[in-house]
Amino acid sequence: MSMKVLVTGGAGYIGSHTIVELNKAGYEPVILDDFRNSKPSVIDGLQKILGKETELLNFDVCDTERIAQYLSKEEVCGIIHFAAYKAVGESVVNPLKYYQNNIEGLVSILKAVSKEADIPFVFSSSCTVYGEPKGQKEVSEQTAKTIPTAPYGFTKWLGEQIIEDLYHSNHELRMMSLRYFNPIGAHESAFIGELPIGKPNNLLPFITQTAAGVHEKLTIFGNTYPTVDGTCVRDYIHVVDLAAAHVKALEFLLGQRMGCNEIVNIGTGKGSSVLEVVDAFEKVNEVTVNYEFGPKRPGDVIEIYANVDYAKSLLGWQAKKTINDAVRDAWRWEKSIRSKE
Ligand code: UFG
Repeated sequence: MSMKVLVTGGAGYIGSHTIVELNKAGYEPVILDDFRNSKPSVIDGLQKILGKETELLNFDVCDTERIAQYLSKEEVCGIIHFAAYKAVGESVVNPLKYYQNNIEGLVSILKAVSKEADIPFVFSSSCTVYGEPKGQKEVSEQTAKTIPTAPYGFTKWLGEQIIEDLYHSNHELRMMSLRYFNPIGAHESAFIGELPIGKPNNLLPFITQTAAGVHEKLTIFGNTYPTVDGTCVRDYIHVVDLAAAHVKALEFLLGQRMGCNEIVNIGTGKGSSVLEVVDAFEKVNEVTVNYEFGPKRPGDVIEIYANVDYAKSLLGWQAKKTINDAVRDAWRWEKSIRSKE
Protein backbone atom coordinates (compact mmCIF):
# COMPACT_ATOMS: atom_id res chain seq x y z
CA MET A 1 0.00 0.00 0.00
CA SER A 2 1.19 3.52 -0.76
CA MET A 3 1.93 5.52 2.38
CA LYS A 4 1.31 8.89 0.71
CA VAL A 5 -1.13 11.18 2.50
CA LEU A 6 -2.29 14.37 0.82
CA VAL A 7 -2.48 17.17 3.38
CA THR A 8 -4.22 20.33 2.16
CA GLY A 9 -3.10 23.36 4.17
CA GLY A 10 -0.07 21.31 5.21
CA ALA A 11 2.02 24.47 5.67
CA GLY A 12 -0.45 25.91 8.17
CA TYR A 13 -0.36 25.72 11.96
CA ILE A 14 -2.13 22.40 12.57
CA GLY A 15 -1.23 21.08 9.12
CA SER A 16 2.53 21.41 9.62
CA HIS A 17 2.44 19.63 12.99
CA THR A 18 0.39 16.87 11.37
CA ILE A 19 3.08 16.48 8.68
CA VAL A 20 5.55 15.71 11.48
CA GLU A 21 3.26 13.19 13.20
CA LEU A 22 2.46 11.45 9.90
CA ASN A 23 6.18 11.08 9.23
CA LYS A 24 6.74 9.71 12.71
CA ALA A 25 4.08 7.09 12.06
CA GLY A 26 5.77 6.00 8.81
CA TYR A 27 3.55 7.85 6.31
CA GLU A 28 4.76 9.96 3.41
CA PRO A 29 2.82 13.22 3.64
CA VAL A 30 2.43 15.50 0.62
CA ILE A 31 1.69 19.17 1.28
CA LEU A 32 -0.88 20.92 -0.89
CA ASP A 33 -0.65 24.61 -0.02
CA ASP A 34 -0.45 27.87 -1.96
CA PHE A 35 0.90 29.86 1.03
CA ARG A 36 -1.89 32.41 0.97
CA ASN A 37 -2.23 32.07 4.73
CA SER A 38 1.08 30.50 5.71
CA LYS A 39 4.75 31.20 5.16
CA PRO A 40 7.25 29.24 3.05
CA SER A 41 9.63 29.29 6.07
CA VAL A 42 7.44 26.51 7.52
CA ILE A 43 8.92 24.22 4.87
CA ASP A 44 12.44 24.92 6.19
CA GLY A 45 11.25 24.23 9.75
CA LEU A 46 9.78 20.92 8.64
CA GLN A 47 12.98 19.99 6.86
CA LYS A 48 14.97 20.64 10.05
CA ILE A 49 12.69 18.40 12.10
CA LEU A 50 12.36 15.62 9.54
CA GLY A 51 15.86 15.76 8.09
CA LYS A 52 14.36 15.47 4.60
CA GLU A 53 12.21 17.33 2.13
CA THR A 54 8.45 16.95 2.01
CA GLU A 55 6.75 16.77 -1.39
CA LEU A 56 4.99 20.06 -2.05
CA LEU A 57 2.10 20.87 -4.40
CA ASN A 58 1.95 24.63 -4.60
CA PHE A 59 -1.55 25.38 -5.88
CA ASP A 60 -5.03 26.31 -4.77
CA VAL A 61 -7.18 23.57 -3.24
CA CYS A 62 -10.06 24.98 -5.32
CA ASP A 63 -8.22 23.72 -8.42
CA THR A 64 -10.13 20.42 -8.62
CA GLU A 65 -8.62 19.50 -11.95
CA ARG A 66 -5.04 19.61 -10.70
CA ILE A 67 -5.98 17.59 -7.62
CA ALA A 68 -7.72 15.01 -9.80
CA GLN A 69 -4.71 14.89 -12.11
CA TYR A 70 -2.40 14.29 -9.16
CA LEU A 71 -4.62 11.56 -7.72
CA SER A 72 -4.92 9.82 -11.06
CA LYS A 73 -1.17 9.40 -11.37
CA GLU A 74 -0.12 9.00 -7.70
CA GLU A 75 -1.38 6.41 -5.28
CA VAL A 76 -2.50 8.19 -2.11
CA CYS A 77 -3.74 6.30 0.98
CA GLY A 78 -5.51 9.23 2.65
CA ILE A 79 -6.45 12.90 2.46
CA ILE A 80 -6.48 15.31 5.38
CA HIS A 81 -8.16 18.61 4.57
CA PHE A 82 -7.04 21.63 6.61
CA ALA A 83 -6.87 24.37 3.97
CA ALA A 84 -9.32 27.06 5.10
CA TYR A 85 -9.46 30.57 6.51
CA LYS A 86 -10.01 30.72 10.25
CA ALA A 87 -10.36 34.28 11.58
CA VAL A 88 -13.83 34.59 13.08
CA GLY A 89 -13.93 38.43 13.05
CA GLU A 90 -12.66 38.70 9.48
CA SER A 91 -15.33 36.24 8.35
CA VAL A 92 -18.04 38.62 9.60
CA VAL A 93 -16.52 41.51 7.65
CA ASN A 94 -15.73 39.49 4.53
CA PRO A 95 -18.11 36.50 4.41
CA LEU A 96 -17.68 35.77 0.70
CA LYS A 97 -13.95 35.27 1.15
CA TYR A 98 -14.81 32.55 3.71
CA TYR A 99 -17.59 30.92 1.75
CA GLN A 100 -15.50 30.86 -1.38
CA ASN A 101 -12.33 29.44 0.11
CA ASN A 102 -13.74 27.19 2.84
CA ILE A 103 -16.77 25.83 1.03
CA GLU A 104 -15.43 25.83 -2.52
CA GLY A 105 -12.16 24.31 -1.28
CA LEU A 106 -14.02 21.52 0.51
CA VAL A 107 -16.28 20.80 -2.45
CA SER A 108 -13.26 20.80 -4.73
CA ILE A 109 -11.35 18.20 -2.73
CA LEU A 110 -14.51 16.13 -2.17
CA LYS A 111 -15.11 15.97 -5.92
CA ALA A 112 -11.72 14.34 -6.22
CA VAL A 113 -12.48 12.02 -3.25
CA SER A 114 -15.79 10.93 -4.71
CA LYS A 115 -13.99 9.85 -7.88
CA GLU A 116 -11.39 7.91 -5.90
CA ALA A 117 -13.82 6.43 -3.40
CA ASP A 118 -11.21 4.23 -1.74
CA ILE A 119 -9.28 7.18 -0.28
CA PRO A 120 -10.17 7.95 3.36
CA PHE A 121 -10.90 11.61 4.09
CA VAL A 122 -10.39 13.58 7.32
CA PHE A 123 -11.95 17.04 7.72
CA SER A 124 -10.95 19.85 10.12
CA SER A 125 -14.09 20.82 11.93
CA SER A 126 -14.46 22.86 15.09
CA CYS A 127 -16.26 22.89 18.41
CA THR A 128 -17.74 26.14 17.14
CA VAL A 129 -20.56 23.94 15.74
CA TYR A 130 -21.88 23.56 19.32
CA GLY A 131 -22.36 27.31 19.83
CA GLU A 132 -23.02 28.20 23.48
CA PRO A 133 -23.83 24.89 25.19
CA LYS A 134 -27.09 25.06 27.13
CA GLY A 135 -26.70 23.98 30.76
CA GLN A 136 -23.97 21.42 30.13
CA LYS A 137 -20.50 22.91 29.59
CA GLU A 138 -19.03 19.56 28.59
CA VAL A 139 -20.15 18.73 25.07
CA SER A 140 -20.21 15.31 23.46
CA GLU A 141 -20.76 14.47 19.81
CA GLN A 142 -24.43 13.92 20.70
CA THR A 143 -24.84 17.50 21.95
CA ALA A 144 -27.09 19.41 19.56
CA LYS A 145 -25.36 21.53 16.94
CA THR A 146 -26.26 25.22 16.72
CA ILE A 147 -25.91 27.30 13.59
CA PRO A 148 -22.88 29.49 14.34
CA THR A 149 -23.33 33.24 14.07
CA ALA A 150 -20.05 33.97 12.28
CA PRO A 151 -19.57 32.84 8.66
CA TYR A 152 -16.31 31.09 9.67
CA GLY A 153 -18.18 28.82 12.09
CA PHE A 154 -20.96 28.31 9.57
CA THR A 155 -18.43 27.03 7.01
CA LYS A 156 -17.49 24.29 9.52
CA TRP A 157 -21.16 23.53 10.31
CA LEU A 158 -21.95 23.36 6.60
CA GLY A 159 -18.76 21.44 5.86
CA GLU A 160 -19.90 18.62 8.16
CA GLN A 161 -23.29 18.66 6.45
CA ILE A 162 -21.76 18.52 2.96
CA ILE A 163 -19.73 15.49 4.02
CA GLU A 164 -22.82 13.86 5.54
CA ASP A 165 -24.80 14.43 2.32
CA LEU A 166 -21.97 13.06 0.19
CA TYR A 167 -21.79 9.98 2.41
CA HIS A 168 -25.53 9.43 1.99
CA SER A 169 -25.00 9.44 -1.76
CA ASN A 170 -22.18 6.88 -1.52
CA HIS A 171 -21.93 4.60 1.51
CA GLU A 172 -18.56 3.28 0.42
CA LEU A 173 -16.78 6.48 1.40
CA ARG A 174 -14.72 6.51 4.60
CA MET A 175 -14.84 9.94 6.18
CA MET A 176 -14.27 11.61 9.52
CA SER A 177 -14.75 15.14 10.84
CA LEU A 178 -12.64 16.09 13.83
CA ARG A 179 -14.11 18.82 16.01
CA TYR A 180 -11.11 20.66 17.39
CA PHE A 181 -11.26 22.58 20.62
CA ASN A 182 -8.57 25.27 21.13
CA PRO A 183 -5.17 24.27 19.73
CA ILE A 184 -2.18 25.96 21.35
CA GLY A 185 1.58 25.40 21.71
CA ALA A 186 4.20 24.50 19.15
CA HIS A 187 6.56 21.67 18.27
CA GLU A 188 9.07 21.23 21.09
CA SER A 189 11.96 21.78 18.66
CA ALA A 190 10.68 25.35 18.11
CA PHE A 191 11.20 24.85 14.35
CA ILE A 192 7.47 25.11 13.64
CA GLY A 193 4.59 26.77 15.49
CA GLU A 194 1.77 29.22 14.99
CA LEU A 195 2.60 32.11 12.64
CA PRO A 196 -0.28 34.55 12.91
CA ILE A 197 -0.35 36.98 10.01
CA GLY A 198 -0.97 40.48 11.41
CA LYS A 199 -2.36 41.08 14.89
CA PRO A 200 -3.40 37.76 16.43
CA ASN A 201 -7.03 37.14 17.34
CA ASN A 202 -6.36 34.09 19.46
CA LEU A 203 -5.34 34.10 23.09
CA LEU A 204 -2.01 32.27 23.11
CA PRO A 205 -0.25 34.17 20.32
CA PHE A 206 -1.44 37.38 21.91
CA ILE A 207 0.03 36.30 25.24
CA THR A 208 3.39 35.29 23.73
CA GLN A 209 3.62 38.49 21.67
CA THR A 210 2.80 40.59 24.72
CA ALA A 211 5.46 38.82 26.78
CA ALA A 212 7.88 39.45 23.89
CA GLY A 213 7.05 43.18 23.94
CA VAL A 214 5.23 43.30 20.59
CA HIS A 215 2.07 44.53 22.33
CA GLU A 216 1.99 46.70 25.40
CA LYS A 217 -0.69 44.59 27.05
CA LEU A 218 -3.15 41.79 26.63
CA THR A 219 -6.80 42.73 26.96
CA ILE A 220 -8.80 39.99 28.65
CA PHE A 221 -12.26 40.17 27.15
CA GLY A 222 -14.57 40.21 30.17
CA ASN A 223 -14.13 39.16 33.80
CA THR A 224 -17.71 38.99 35.02
CA TYR A 225 -18.80 35.74 33.37
CA PRO A 226 -20.35 33.05 35.59
CA THR A 227 -17.14 30.95 35.59
CA VAL A 228 -14.46 30.00 38.11
CA ASP A 229 -12.84 33.47 38.01
CA GLY A 230 -15.13 35.50 35.74
CA THR A 231 -13.15 34.88 32.52
CA CYS A 232 -14.20 32.52 29.69
CA VAL A 233 -13.32 28.85 29.82
CA ARG A 234 -12.00 26.77 26.89
CA ASP A 235 -10.47 23.36 26.30
CA TYR A 236 -6.88 24.15 25.25
CA ILE A 237 -5.18 21.27 23.49
CA HIS A 238 -1.50 20.99 22.59
CA VAL A 239 -1.19 21.16 18.80
CA VAL A 240 1.10 18.09 18.75
CA ASP A 241 -1.61 16.03 20.49
CA LEU A 242 -4.14 17.35 18.00
CA ALA A 243 -1.82 16.44 15.12
CA ALA A 244 -1.43 12.91 16.51
CA ALA A 245 -5.24 12.57 16.55
CA HIS A 246 -5.20 12.94 12.75
CA VAL A 247 -2.88 9.96 12.41
CA LYS A 248 -5.25 7.91 14.59
CA ALA A 249 -8.21 9.11 12.54
CA LEU A 250 -6.51 8.05 9.31
CA GLU A 251 -5.54 4.68 10.77
CA PHE A 252 -9.09 4.09 11.94
CA LEU A 253 -10.45 4.83 8.45
CA LEU A 254 -7.81 2.68 6.76
CA GLY A 255 -8.90 -0.19 9.00
CA GLN A 256 -12.55 0.02 7.90
CA ARG A 257 -13.71 -2.41 5.24
CA MET A 258 -17.08 -0.70 4.97
CA GLY A 259 -17.79 3.00 4.41
CA CYS A 260 -18.41 5.24 7.40
CA ASN A 261 -18.83 8.87 8.39
CA GLU A 262 -17.69 9.64 11.92
CA ILE A 263 -17.59 12.83 13.97
CA VAL A 264 -15.16 13.02 16.88
CA ASN A 265 -14.34 15.69 19.49
CA ILE A 266 -10.64 16.37 19.85
CA GLY A 267 -9.86 18.14 23.12
CA THR A 268 -8.38 17.35 26.52
CA GLY A 269 -11.69 17.08 28.39
CA LYS A 270 -10.64 19.85 30.76
CA GLY A 271 -11.57 23.52 30.75
CA SER A 272 -9.20 26.37 31.66
CA SER A 273 -10.08 30.01 32.14
CA VAL A 274 -8.24 32.86 30.40
CA LEU A 275 -6.70 33.85 33.74
CA GLU A 276 -5.57 30.27 34.38
CA VAL A 277 -3.80 30.21 31.00
CA VAL A 278 -2.09 33.55 31.70
CA ASP A 279 -1.09 32.31 35.14
CA ALA A 280 0.33 29.02 33.78
CA PHE A 281 2.26 30.96 31.12
CA GLU A 282 3.80 33.30 33.71
CA LYS A 283 4.72 30.54 36.17
CA VAL A 284 6.15 28.03 33.69
CA ASN A 285 8.16 30.60 31.74
CA GLU A 286 8.98 32.93 34.63
CA VAL A 287 7.88 35.98 32.67
CA THR A 288 5.21 38.58 33.31
CA VAL A 289 2.31 39.25 30.98
CA ASN A 290 0.97 42.75 31.27
CA TYR A 291 -2.81 42.56 31.05
CA GLU A 292 -5.98 44.49 31.69
CA PHE A 293 -9.63 43.55 31.76
CA GLY A 294 -11.66 44.95 28.90
CA PRO A 295 -15.22 44.62 27.63
CA LYS A 296 -16.63 41.26 26.63
CA ARG A 297 -15.95 40.23 23.03
CA PRO A 298 -19.25 39.92 21.15
CA GLY A 299 -20.14 36.34 20.32
CA ASP A 300 -17.75 34.72 22.83
CA VAL A 301 -18.93 31.41 24.24
CA ILE A 302 -18.77 31.52 28.05
CA GLU A 303 -17.59 28.03 28.87
CA ILE A 304 -17.07 24.89 26.80
CA TYR A 305 -14.91 21.78 26.97
CA ALA A 306 -14.91 18.42 25.26
CA ASN A 307 -16.24 15.09 26.32
CA VAL A 308 -13.47 12.94 24.89
CA ASP A 309 -14.90 9.45 25.51
CA TYR A 310 -15.58 8.79 21.85
CA ALA A 311 -12.05 9.78 20.76
CA LYS A 312 -10.72 7.29 23.34
CA SER A 313 -13.02 4.42 22.44
CA LEU A 314 -13.07 4.86 18.65
CA LEU A 315 -9.54 6.03 17.96
CA GLY A 316 -7.65 4.94 21.06
CA TRP A 317 -6.45 8.53 21.27
CA GLN A 318 -6.22 10.91 24.16
CA ALA A 319 -4.27 14.09 24.83
CA LYS A 320 -0.95 13.45 26.58
CA LYS A 321 0.46 16.93 26.98
CA THR A 322 -0.54 19.46 29.62
CA ILE A 323 -1.29 23.12 29.44
CA ASN A 324 2.11 23.71 31.05
CA ASP A 325 3.79 21.85 28.17
CA ALA A 326 1.83 23.97 25.70
CA VAL A 327 2.66 27.37 27.24
CA ARG A 328 6.33 26.38 27.53
CA ASP A 329 6.48 25.32 23.87
CA ALA A 330 4.54 28.40 22.74
CA TRP A 331 7.03 30.68 24.49
CA ARG A 332 10.04 28.80 23.15
CA TRP A 333 8.59 29.20 19.66
CA GLU A 334 7.89 32.92 20.11
CA LYS A 335 11.47 33.47 21.29
CA SER A 336 12.81 31.59 18.30
CA ILE A 337 10.81 33.79 15.89
CA ARG A 338 12.01 36.96 17.64
CA SER A 339 15.65 35.82 17.58
CA LYS A 340 15.47 35.68 13.76
CA GLU A 341 14.23 39.27 13.38
N1 UFG B 1 -9.16 36.26 24.62
C1 UFG B 1 -8.84 37.38 25.34
N2 UFG B 1 -8.00 38.29 24.78
C2 UFG B 1 -7.46 38.13 23.54
C3 UFG B 1 -7.80 36.98 22.80
C4 UFG B 1 -8.66 36.05 23.37
O1 UFG B 1 -9.31 37.56 26.46
O2 UFG B 1 -6.72 39.01 23.08
C5 UFG B 1 -10.06 35.26 25.21
C6 UFG B 1 -11.36 35.12 24.46
O3 UFG B 1 -12.30 36.08 24.89
C7 UFG B 1 -11.75 33.68 24.81
C8 UFG B 1 -10.41 32.98 24.97
O4 UFG B 1 -9.45 34.01 25.15
O5 UFG B 1 -12.39 33.68 26.04
C9 UFG B 1 -10.04 32.16 23.76
O6 UFG B 1 -10.14 32.98 22.61
P1 UFG B 1 -9.60 32.55 21.19
O7 UFG B 1 -9.90 33.65 20.24
O8 UFG B 1 -8.18 32.10 21.31
O9 UFG B 1 -10.42 31.24 20.87
P2 UFG B 1 -11.99 31.06 20.67
O10 UFG B 1 -12.39 29.98 21.61
O11 UFG B 1 -12.75 32.30 20.72
O12 UFG B 1 -12.02 30.60 19.16
C10 UFG B 1 -11.46 29.37 18.84
C11 UFG B 1 -10.93 29.36 17.41
C12 UFG B 1 -12.04 29.47 16.44
C13 UFG B 1 -13.12 28.50 16.73
C14 UFG B 1 -13.56 28.61 18.16
C15 UFG B 1 -14.53 27.54 18.53
O13 UFG B 1 -10.04 30.43 17.20
O14 UFG B 1 -11.50 29.16 15.18
O15 UFG B 1 -12.44 28.43 19.00
O16 UFG B 1 -15.06 27.79 19.78
F1 UFG B 1 -14.21 28.74 15.96
